[in-house]
Amino acid sequence: MTNLGASQDAISRHYDVSDEYYRLFLGEAMVYSCALWSGPDTESLEEAQTAKLDYFVRQLELNADDHLLDIGCGWGAMLSRARQVAGIRRATGLTLSTNQRDHIARLDTRIDVRLVAWQDHEPEEPPSKIVSIGAFEHFVSPGNSREQRLAAYVAFFRRCHEWLPPGGLLGLQTIGQDGAMENSDSRMSSFFEETVFPESSPPRLSEVLEAADPFFHLGELRIDGDHYRRTCDAWRENLKRNRIAATDLAGEATVKLYLIYLRACMFQFRMLYSNLYRFTFERRKEPLTTVLAGAGRY
Ligand SMILES: C[S@@+](CC[C@H](N)C(=O)[O-])C[C@H]1O[C@@H](n2cnc3c(N)ncnc32)[C@H](O)[C@@H]1O
Repeated sequence: MTNLGASQDAISRHYDVSDEYYRLFLGEAMVYSCALWSGPDTESLEEAQTAKLDYFVRQLELNADDHLLDIGCGWGAMLSRARQVAGIRRATGLTLSTNQRDHIARLDTRIDVRLVAWQDHEPEEPPSKIVSIGAFEHFVSPGNSREQRLAAYVAFFRRCHEWLPPGGLLGLQTIGQDGAMENSDSRMSSFFEETVFPESSPPRLSEVLEAADPFFHLGELRIDGDHYRRTCDAWRENLKRNRIAATDLAGEATVKLYLIYLRACMFQFRMLYSNLYRFTFERRKEPLTTVLAGAGRY
């Protein structure tokens, strides 16, 4: 299946800087997505990241019978946590980063990690539940038309529907564009889309809902943009505190770029140009053919 989003090369340019460099600002568990903060200022980044992983463990009702597929598994934190607290039977992770693949292979041999795009993944045993956290932002590229974007998102939900059993649960977390699309040629957009996250463009909420509707019931939607502002702030403070070690690992230009990109992200979330969505979907028994008539164009 065609991948309209970030290629392996584009993913590698962002994620294969250095695992140690990422550990310096993401923290020990290396979770590279929005945390779930409960409020108090005393809460640590680690606690808020664990709360986010546990949120998805609960939402997906994970248990010892489950085979969990993590699409865009990063350095494996979600799968490790699901094995630890829910004792899931099988854990499969997909990533396009060789550093992440190698890290997980060293971390836990019971996680089946694969260097493959979901578009090309052919599971020999289908998952019972699926989670995807912070990867959906990579599934289309800047410059794709609205039709192409919807086609890519419909393909994603169609695939998840094919893999899951009836009633199967899908947890999805993604940044969304919440500002005007006509601003997409702004300097801020091109900074993100060309320099920081090449070949990637976050969805709009309406695109996710339209593409999912034929295949999934929406069980829950949390809108947590301010949680991402706070997460970026915590990452930035970590990077500033560890600036010398980070510069040794990744070079001055990279550290400077990340400090600017994290500050720009905080601004995006504060201004509501971006938002953060956490969905829990339940697989429909059959795709809705009437709704799919529209989606079928894609
Ligand atoms: C921001 S990281 C999030 C990692 C992890 N879920 C977390 O929360 O720490 C994005 C992940 O998506 C993966 N990814 C991007 N496009 C993908 C695709 N088409 N198929 C599979 N994984 C993909 C990247 O390799 C990376 O692991």
